[in-house]
Amino acid sequence: PPVLSGRDFLSSLDLTPQDYRAVMDTAHAMKRGEFRGQKPLDGLTLAMLFEKASLRTRTTFDVAMYQLGGHALTLTNQEIGLGTRERVSDVAQNLERWVDGIMARVYLQSTLIELAQHASVPVINGLSDSLHPVQLLADYQTLEERFGDPRGLKITYIGDGNNMANSHIQMAVLTGADVTICTPVGYEPNGKVLIDALAAGARVTLTSDLEAAVSGAQVLYTDVWISMGQEGEAERKRRAFDGYCVTPQMLDRIDADGIFLHCLPAHYGEEVVPEATEHRKSRVFDQAENRLHAQKALLYHLMADRQPRW
Ligand code: CP
Ligand code: NVA
Repeated sequence: PPVLSGRDFLSSLDLTPQDYRAVMDTAHAMKRGEFRGQKPLDGLTLAMLFEKASLRTRTTFDVAMYQLGGHALTLTNQEIGLGTRERVSDVAQNLERWVDGIMARVYLQSTLIELAQHASVPVINGLSDSLHPVQLLADYQTLEERFGDPRGLKITYIGDGNNMANSHIQMAVLTGADVTICTPVGYEPNGKVLIDALAAGARVTLTSDLEAAVSGAQVLYTDVWISMGQEGEAERKRRAFDGYCVTPQMLDRIDADGIFLHCLPAHYGEEVVPEATEHRKSRVFDQAENRLHAQKALLYHLMADRQPRW
């Protein structure tokens, strides 16, 4: 049965470890085809708001709603002008009258919080400048397929201390994974996210010792150095991240059974080369596939208890 009925998913820590287990078990079952032919979201609609570009998030949420028997509609910010054409709270109070859930990709985490405060339906974070929690569900589905229970798993994230790094830290709280974040000095992840995670007992290490961080990792993870909206910082960042490019030579230094993950899109020639995403240790396209299964599971747990409103 659904375990997240009516709740919001703005950060990984909106889930308890028990919720995480339920969502993952459903994601694995959905990937095995165990829900085929069922329509648990029959008659339900998800509105998708985008202040930024997307391939994976947009496609997988849309296909997920279709496969679950519901419907998804895409609203670009050119059309709705979140906070410019119309205040965020009014957008929320309109959408809640028509749709059963809202997924939003935004700049500010505070925009998501405002949407959630003013909409009675579930609000899902489809990426903000601070966090990318739906990505991490797919990532953990992928590493569970390889390693089983993530407790104690040695995960190393290298690169920019961005939304992906912050969400990796939060997942250490949720799952008990042993997470190392390796960034150049000056590009560390959010201090409050880190302090809260350490206070909650998470196993998180912050370092700029790239060699030690990569050596023996069971999961090596990277992301772009220049996130959406940061294009003006490109030159300075490219210099700061010298040595952080994931190459086949770097993949030789992780655990022999280790895997390489990247949320994509890749900026080839910066944080990664094509020979790394095509490497036998790479699981980046399984990871992209799992966006669909993991989000179907999330949508099921958030929305399947709702009655169609017509
Ligand atoms: N990984 C990810 O969120 O991809 P998109 O930006 O294409 O949605
Ligand atoms: N850090 C990247 C992730 C893209 C999925 C960005 O915010 O652009």
